[in-house]
Amino acid sequence: MKRAVNIEDLRRRARSRLPRVVFDYLDGAAEDEITLTANRRGFQSIQLVPRILGGGTADLSTQILGHRYAAPFLIGPTGLNGIYWPQGDLHLARAAADAGVGFALSTASNMSMEAISAQVDGPKWFQLYPWGKPDFSKSLLDRARAAGYSALIITLDSLVGGKRERDLRHGFSHEIRMSAPVVLDGLMHPGWLASVWLGRSRPRFENLVAFLGDGASDKELADFTRSQRNPHFSWEDVRRIRRQWDGPLLIKGVMCAEDALRARQEGADGVIISNHGGRQLDGAPATISVLEEIAGCLDDGATVLLDGGIRRGSDVVKALALGAQGVLLGRATLYGLAAGGYDGVARALSMLADEMQRTMIFTGCGSTDDLGPHNIARPCRERDRASPERE
Ligand SMILES: Cc1cc2nc3c(=O)[nH]c(=O)nc-3n(C[C@H](O)[C@H](O)[C@H](O)COP(=O)(O)O)c2cc1C
Repeated sequence: MKRAVNIEDLRRRARSRLPRVVFDYLDGAAEDEITLTANRRGFQSIQLVPRILGGGTADLSTQILGHRYAAPFLIGPTGLNGIYWPQGDLHLARAAADAGVGFALSTASNMSMEAISAQVDGPKWFQLYPWGKPDFSKSLLDRARAAGYSALIITLDSLVGGKRERDLRHGFSHEIRMSAPVVLDGLMHPGWLASVWLGRSRPRFENLVAFLGDGASDKELADFTRSQRNPHFSWEDVRRIRRQWDGPLLIKGVMCAEDALRARQEGADGVIISNHGGRQLDGAPATISVLEEIAGCLDDGATVLLDGGIRRGSDVVKALALGAQGVLLGRATLYGLAAGGYDGVARALSMLADEMQRTMIFTGCGSTDDLGPHNIARPCRERDRASPERE
C-alpha cells in the first residue's frame, strides 16, 4: 500500500490485480455510464470558500441515527465483495469498526450477516433488496434483528437490473462462468486466482443459503437471486416492512423531493440520496446536484445521507455543506479492498479522513456542525441575492 496516496491510486492497483471481468463489475455502470461520470463531475464543479486562520484542527465526528461516529462516512452496502478478496465483507466491516465509522451489509453479501456480527463489534446496518414474497424479507429481517444490526436500509432503485454493458460483454451476472477468455485472464492475475478462485470456497450469497440449503452452489444461489426480483414491490410493501422492523429505517435510491416526502410519510426515518453509483438508470443526475432540494423539503427530524462518486475528503465536506448528515462509500473502499484486503480498506478510510480534515481546516470549520451553505463558493450575484444586507 506504500505510495498509494489517493483513491485513484487504489483504483489503479485494483485494476492491475483483478481479472478484467471482476474489475469491470466493480468499476462499471449502466449503458453509456453518463451518470457514473456525472456523479464525479457534480462534486468537481462545486467550489469551496477558503477561509484563513480558522484554526488548525477539525473534529470530524458526527451523530447519525443516534450514534456518534468518528467521521461522517460509512461503508455502504455492496454485493459480491468476496470476488475481490477472500472474506471481503469481513475486511470491510473490520476496517470500518477500527476506524470508528459505520458499515452496512448487503443482502447480496458473500458472508452471512451472522458470521459478520459474530466477528465485528462496531455498529452495523443491514440492507434489504425488494426481492421475493413477504416471508422472504421477514425471515431476513428477523435474522438481522437477532444478529444485532441496528438500522435497516431498503434499496428501492433496483426493481429491475441496470443494463451494465461491461458485464454483458463478459457474460457476467452474479457468478463467474468459466470460459476460455476468463480462464486466460485469471491466469494472468495469479494473486487473485490463488486467493479468491482456488481458495477454500467459491464466493456465494451466504445470506440466502438458508432458503436453498447448505449444499447450494454459487450458481444455484445466483439463479435464486435472479428469480427473486419482484417488479411489483410497492409502497404497501414498504409499509409492511416498516411494521416489521422497529429500528431506524432508511430508503435508498431516492433522487427527487416527491419520493423523499413519500418515504417520510410511509414512516422511514430518512433517505439515502443515491443513483446506485450510476449502475441503474443511466441519465439520472448527479446525486450532489439534487441534495439541496431534497434536504430542503424534509423536516428537521429526517436523516439525509448521500452516496455516488465520493472519492475525496472534500466531496464529503461538500455533501455536508449542502445538507447531508453523512455519506456512504461504494467503490472508494472496494478499490481499497481489491488492492490490498483489510489494509487497502483501512488505507482508503484514512486517506478520506485526512483529506476531509485538511479541507475543513482550509474552509475554517472546526467541526462538522460548522459546515453549511456558506462554505460553498457561489457566483457573487447569487451571494448578493442570498444576503440582502450586502446591498
Ligand atoms: C460493485 C457494487 C456492488 C453494489 N451492490 C449493492 C448492493 O448490494 N446493495 C445496494 O444497495 N447497493 C449496491 N451498490 C451501490 C452502492 O451501495 C452505492 O450506492 C454506490 O456504489 C455509490 O456510488 P460510488 O461507488 O460511486 O461511491 C453497489 C455498488 C457497486 C459498485
